[in-house]
Order: sequence, then C-alpha cells, then structure tokens
Amino acid sequence: MYSPAIVDATDSLTTPSPKLQLRTPQANHRDHAEAYQAGTTDTAKGPCSTVTSSPSTRHFSFSVPYALQLHHCQDCFAESNNLLADILQEGANKTVRTLVCIDAGVIAEQPKLAERISNWFSQRHQLKLVEPPLTIAAGEVAKSDWSVVEQVAEACERGSICRHSYIVVIGGGAVLDAVGLAASLVHRGVRLIRLPTTTLAQADAGLGVKNGINAYQNKNFIGNFAPPWAIINDASFLTSLPLRARRDGIIEAIKVAMIKDVGNYQWLYEKAPAAVHGDDNALQQIIERSALLQGLTFHIAHCAFVT
Ligand SMILES: NC(=O)c1ccc[n+]([C@@H]2O[C@H](COP(=O)([O-])OP(=O)(O)OC[C@H]3O[C@@H](n4cnc5c(N)ncnc54)[C@H](O)[C@@H]3O)[C@@H](O)[C@H]2O)c1
Repeated sequence: MYSPAIVDATDSLTTPSPKLQLRTPQANHRDHAEAYQAGTTDTAKGPCSTVTSSPSTRHFSFSVPYALQLHHCQDCFAESNNLLADILQEGANKTVRTLVCIDAGVIAEQPKLAERISNWFSQRHQLKLVEPPLTIAAGEVAKSDWSVVEQVAEACERGSICRHSYIVVIGGGAVLDAVGLAASLVHRGVRLIRLPTTTLAQADAGLGVKNGINAYQNKNFIGNFAPPWAIINDASFLTSLPLRARRDGIIEAIKVAMIKDVGNYQWLYEKAPAAVHGDDNALQQIIERSALLQGLTFHIAHCAFVT
C-alpha cells in the first residue's frame, strides 16, 4: 500500500533532493515489466534478474518492493475518528482481527486509554479486538530480554492472529522495537501498525525499519529489518510527555536534517526555539518534517538491505 500523502508533503520541503524520490510498488513493478519486455532483466540491476557466472553456476538476484503509510492525526481513538479503521479494513472482505499492545508508561499517564480503545473497537463491527489491550513493560526494560517477544507471541496464539491480522503498538521507541520484533517473527510477519508516543519515536524510530532487543550487554544485538505497514503519528499522545522529553524529538530532527537535508536544517534552526519553549504547533511541524524526511529515505536505502 502506498500513501500519496507522503509525496504531496514533499512540496513543503525547502530543498528536496533529487535522491529523495519515493517509489511506489506499482512503479517498481512497471519498471520490471518494461525491463522484462525489453529483454533486459538478465542483468544484476533488474528487480528480478539472473546472472550467469559459469555454465554450472547461476546467481539470482531479486528485489522486494516495500511500502508503508505515514499518517498524522489528533486523537486516533476518538469515537468519530475512523483513520485506523480505514487502514485496518482496506481490502479486507471479512472481520479484521487485531491485537493492541500499549507501553505501560503511556497507560500510567493515560489510565483510561485501554478502555477507550476497547470501546472504539466495539463500535466497529468489521473489526475484532482479540483481547483487551496488552500492557508492555515501559522503556528500555521492554528490550532487555525476550519476555515481550514471548508475551506478544503468546497473545497472538491465544487470539488466532494470522497473516491477515494486525498488531497495533502504541508506545515509545523501545516498545516499538520489541513488539516490532515479535510481529516480524510470528507467522514470519504479521502486519504492524505503529503509534509512536514520544517525540523521538514520532520523528524517527516510528519510521525506522529496524526491530530489536538488547542482549549480551549490547544494544539491539538481536533484531531484524521489517518495515511496518503503517505509522500513525497522533499528536495527542505527546501532551503527557514532560517538556524535557518533548525536546528529544527536536534533537532527533536536527540530526536527521544535518544528515539528509541542509535546507531543512535552516528551517529547523528558525523553528526550534519556539518548540523548545513549549510551542506545540512548532513542535508538531518539526516532527512532521522529520518523519517525512525519514519516510523519503526510509533508512532502507543505506542501512538495511544494501549493506
Ligand atoms: N527502530 C529504530 O529505527 C529506532 C530508531 C531510534 C531509536 N530507537 C530506539 O528507541 C528507543 C528510545 O525511544 P524513546 O526515546 O521513545 O524512549 P523510550 O521508548 O525508552 O520511552 C521513554 C519513557 O517514556 C515513556 N513514554 C512513552 N510515551 C509516553 C507518553 N506519551 N507520555 C508519557 N510517557 C511516555 C515510556 O514508557 C518510557 O518510560 C531506544 O531503545 C532506541 O534504540 C529505534
């Protein structure tokens, strides 16, 4: 699935680099079909190619088009907000089974969240919440061992989550990483929808294609690359963060801009002071741009499948 919203938003970037082109799966398929018709797929560059290096040895190379959706919204679980339902129901011809996992730190700040989510699902008959939302250990503890992976895998088994189902994870970057790893392993990949709840996670980690847990005193020692199906940056989650924690996303956005888009860095330089002093609107704009830049470069190109 491909969200045109990402491409439309490039208009707001100050210096879109020619390299920052979002490819749709359709475009990749089209290129492949054209290459096939032209008889040029037999090269290492094609999306699916064969290279003969000796009469007795064949090397095959192929590429898999990945796509993800990035959405921004306010209060995803408001009664009238149908964004998540639209994502879950797209292309479905039967009830969509969903497991929801929530960061314990978010629940501590928003104690009614699990109940709100259950109510939201109960009003949508095409969707089935397989059990009340799971509470996931907060912060880095979630990544400290295999417990969260096992907790989520067991819930998937209990709830008959299959490859047509979804896992929705709500939390900071650490919880996204651990639950993401579980989602990528169960049935070799259940579709994951991330709702990042920290500024760092909305500006960066939510868009990352990495999942992982810490092991043997090494951060992210065990993990994999598996892009989420969709990311929903819900600004209402950020309101329960202390001011200091809100600033984390600005630091991340500066890093992203310095690496990926110098023009955006200048814009950020002018916007950051207001955001640092609590201007939610400025903070929101910074997060949206940073997430967009991440989406356009996808981490994948340079760190996932190439190296
Ligand atoms: N996968 C990636 O591409 C990627 C990229 C960058 C960072 N990361 C990972 O992200 C993690 C850091 O993420 P982080 O900065 O979001 O911190 P975090 O996930 O450790 O969360 C920090 C604390 O904030 C709490 N919290 C989360 N949302 C809240 C909210 N809305 N209100 C109140 N409290 C809230 C959490 O419960 C936790 O106690 C690291 O483990 C890092 O490795 C992953």
